Amino acid sequence: MKTFHNKSELTHHIDELKAEGKSIGFVPTMGALHNGHLSLVENGLNDNDFVVVSIFVNPTQFDNQEDLIKYPRTLDADVSLLKIISEHEILVYAPTVNDIYGDNVQSQSFKFDGLENEMEGAFREGHFDGVGTIVKRLFEIVRPDKAYFGEKDFQQLQIVKKLVELYHIPVEVIGCSIHREKDGLAMSSRNTRLTEAHRAVAPFIYKILKSAKTEFGTKSAKKVTEWVEKQFKKQSLLELEYFIIADIETLKPVKRKSTKKTYRAFIAVYAGDIRLIDNIALN
Ligand code: PAJ
Repeated sequence: MKTFHNKSELTHHIDELKAEGKSIGFVPTMGALHNGHLSLVENGLNDNDFVVVSIFVNPTQFDNQEDLIKYPRTLDADVSLLKIISEHEILVYAPTVNDIYGDNVQSQSFKFDGLENEMEGAFREGHFDGVGTIVKRLFEIVRPDKAYFGEKDFQQLQIVKKLVELYHIPVEVIGCSIHREKDGLAMSSRNTRLTEAHRAVAPFIYKILKSAKTEFGTKSAKKVTEWVEKQFKKQSLLELEYFIIADIETLKPVKRKSTKKTYRAFIAVYAGDIRLIDNIALN
């Protein structure tokens, strides 16, 4: 498997593939790969001749320095996992911070029609400026035909679609469903950092999301939100940061339900020091 650590070698290789008329899929990641990431890669391989997987812990999207320092970095294991899927059709791009940012490790400032101000944008300052900066830069380097993002980070998916629209980037952005552990916990690179006790209670998050979906069938968003908040008060190992039912287009919290709109419930929870997010389609 070809692994590139600098962009000039990668762009040169991609130029050659493009000259041969090959299609390129792209899966950006921060590594510590799990089956959720791998499902994106598999979707990419189904649709394209080659798939570029980037592995880069992007410093500018972290609002919490400790989270950045402790983020798992497991490049060798990641490459081994990808090799199992395909030795020859996957290209790994694992750049250094310098290769991406030079000596200016800063993000550009973006406006995504207000999508950046909701939920993760409100609770993690500068997060989507960091995501916008890295995804735009990676799109410029990789120039993919199609790019794959998980619904696990649904707000990020919507923001990347907006980025592509605003900057006229010629790529099709494809959303992929959430992969879960057998007990329902959404797969995440951060799960490996949970203590045994926090790991044991973490499936509660998805259990509550599923119940909230049922409740939303007959109750208002306000009532469902109050019910969820009450459930978390009883669960001492998990601290609810937010539970929000939002319109998937604007990501604004729903005030009055409309049958013409599509809603999702979004949740962020602290399990000790580890922040977990999840979401579920409601209608
Ligand atoms: P990371 O958290 O590594 O996730 C990479 C991609 O995998 C994202 O599109 C994410 O939504 C998807 N993903 C993660 N867990 C998933 C799961 N359980 N099921 C399905 N898809 C899942 O998201 C990022 O990295 C970064 O913000 C990035 C886009 C790479 C920019 O730095």
